[in-house]
Amino acid sequence: MKKIRDKRFVAFALLIFLAMAFQSVKSPKKNNAMTNDEKIEALLAKMTLAEKIGQLNMYSGSWEFTGPVPPDQGSQQKLDDIKSGRVGGMLNVLTAEGTKEAQKLAVENSRLKIPLIFGYDVVHGYKTMMPIPLAQAASWNLEMARLGSEVAAREAAAAGLHWTFAPMIDVSRDARWGRIMESAGEDTYLTSVMGKAWIEGFQGKDLSSEKTIAACAKHFAGYGYAEAGRDYNTIEVTENTLLNVILPPFKVASEAGVATFMNAFNDIGGVPATGSEFLQRQLLKKEWNFEGFVVSDWGSIGEMITHGYAPDSLTAATYAIKAGSDMDMESHIYLNNLEKLVKNGKVSEKLIDDAVRRILKLKFDLGLFDDPYRYSNLEREKKELLSEKNLQAAREVAQGTMVLLKNENSLLPIQKSVKNIAVIGNLAGHKDVPLGSWRAQANPNSAVSLVEGIKAAVSADQKVEYAEGYQLTTGTRDFLHELTFTDPNDRSGFENAIKIAKNADLVIMALGEDCYQSGEGRSQTSLELKGNQLELLDEILKVNKNVVAVLMTGRPVAIPTVAQKVPAILQTWFAGSQAGHATADVLFGKYNPSGKLPVSFPRHVGQVPLYYAQKNTGRPVTNTWDAGLVFWSHYTDMPNTPQWCFGFGLSYTTFDYKNLSVKTSPKKASVSVEITNTGKYKGKETVQLYIRDTHATVIQPIKRLVAFEQISLEIGETKTVKFELTEKELGFYHPDRRFYAESGSFEIMVGTNSEQLLKKTVEIDFD
Ligand code: NOJ
Repeated sequence: MKKIRDKRFVAFALLIFLAMAFQSVKSPKKNNAMTNDEKIEALLAKMTLAEKIGQLNMYSGSWEFTGPVPPDQGSQQKLDDIKSGRVGGMLNVLTAEGTKEAQKLAVENSRLKIPLIFGYDVVHGYKTMMPIPLAQAASWNLEMARLGSEVAAREAAAAGLHWTFAPMIDVSRDARWGRIMESAGEDTYLTSVMGKAWIEGFQGKDLSSEKTIAACAKHFAGYGYAEAGRDYNTIEVTENTLLNVILPPFKVASEAGVATFMNAFNDIGGVPATGSEFLQRQLLKKEWNFEGFVVSDWGSIGEMITHGYAPDSLTAATYAIKAGSDMDMESHIYLNNLEKLVKNGKVSEKLIDDAVRRILKLKFDLGLFDDPYRYSNLEREKKELLSEKNLQAAREVAQGTMVLLKNENSLLPIQKSVKNIAVIGNLAGHKDVPLGSWRAQANPNSAVSLVEGIKAAVSADQKVEYAEGYQLTTGTRDFLHELTFTDPNDRSGFENAIKIAKNADLVIMALGEDCYQSGEGRSQTSLELKGNQLELLDEILKVNKNVVAVLMTGRPVAIPTVAQKVPAILQTWFAGSQAGHATADVLFGKYNPSGKLPVSFPRHVGQVPLYYAQKNTGRPVTNTWDAGLVFWSHYTDMPNTPQWCFGFGLSYTTFDYKNLSVKTSPKKASVSVEITNTGKYKGKETVQLYIRDTHATVIQPIKRLVAFEQISLEIGETKTVKFELTEKELGFYHPDRRFYAESGSFEIMVGTNSEQLLKKTVEIDFD
């Protein structure tokens, strides 16, 4: 019986197949079913030069589109420009209703009815805030990173947005730079894989889905290397650093199908990135075959004049379009100059056509030509934003981002026997700081605070008392303005805090930064904690030694005294909407911490830039730092080493690494290592693999992360983790820009962080 049915099925399938084959021989596609490329060409053929240039122009909607009257003249001009097809994209137009109104202006008034594309900085959430990107990188969990941006995309798409200006995949090695919070940290490999996961989360498998948005790899390139950590500053990088450290995450992003790139404010070797033909046209579009478009950073085409590169707007427009900068964000320079430049033969219309094609392609891919309003759905917006499901995802993502830096006497997880808990610190009661900077449309003061999280987590017989203790900032706190810090002489909250600490079995003290100390334009010369938090900490330690410091920061901070004096420290970054719950999950052991630092924590700002992938120099410190002789690459007043190294992070359990084996064959190494959970809790461990090419024609770092795997281990369980290393992991870019590995000896190192590693040295032949 079964056989007969199978046969019938095969016959039926064959029939369908033949019918389809016949159909496709007869007409390769259905009537009217033009491919997107054909549609683009047809549309392009209808466009005037002015309309083409309009597509390259992006405005910021600095007004509310829900009301009919724009507040100023500039806005009126923008409205008129949209109606006459002189605008291709907008940023900062928000809500399903606002985007619908704006879209109507374009579609109902412009001659060719080309829809606008709406972009926005949806960096770590739209309404529901995920942990900041640096925190997400600390999870080393690609699935969770994907989930984080998937939720962000769903919410943003429901609010009418098509495109996010994220992820930022600038390798960031200077903790003074405020935008380090938006990065995946100091490492090229970790940044590459995190960037890819974020892109996959935002874009999904289908850009035309109403749940996904286009991503943007930024800032191309070198922005994270701002000299002295000062935002927007010039950078000084060698070609070697550019090729091997800065560019790889961008190449991975391009290969992952990221829809757009954003160029950068900085210059490289005297050429603004926005005007760099090498970066945008040669490398990205030609060598990497990138088919999407490049948007300028805000005003960066115009800033080429301020840089001292282009003498005027006409030249700036010429440089930028020739370099491959397709869309002009808020310079208005393309709009005002390109037509003239084409007409007088200074710029070829072919360049404009190429840029327009790229922009139209994304609009087609997003499905905007089928229905320009499809993303702006009030019903969906209402259901999607801050949904239970999204908040639950925020909590889950946040749990894995916390890094246990110290846990003396197993103070954590908090045991049932701990009856009186004192929670101290302005940051512990804060409902806004945990939302982080670059928070899109998060409702102010909407995060679960630490004290709320703790109160929700304790059992009935555990008492929680809260005292603010210190204050950090005062007055306006927002994305645009400088912060005002509270007078450090104000000790008015100390007494109460000391009192509750004295009576407690355990003190949980929140220390750290305001979230607006990091983010765009928020560079600092100091990495110490501001105000009088440390003074209060000292007072608290005098009356109670059982202190757990919960750190909230958007960057690595230098806190040697905290590291020394406080028995337990948990780094929680800015953990998003569910920060308090997620932190409590970790403090009480509902989640065993698994985060690992994506960036080195220095002892002092003077060590910065500090990163593990250093070169050896001819004079490395092989002895201890105070060995006596001075002729070594060191500081006379401090060790070279960080307070906590890259990849560092403890668990409530312990992991033992043994039996590292490395088997080589030509062009290849097979690595395996055994890891055992030797402690008292089930736990997750991130097994990290570093390599060093010991002698190469271009000096290689003493360690370079090339792979990792996160595993879960039951108490007493052992797992074997295997890695395959090939030229991809063992090679590097040479001065001629070719990538290959060199034969010779390699150190293969595997372990729990970038310092505690098992090592084998092997010879590998690549000839
Ligand atoms: C400037 C920032 O550098 C960039 O990252 C951001 O996307 C744009 N402003 C738009 O807000």
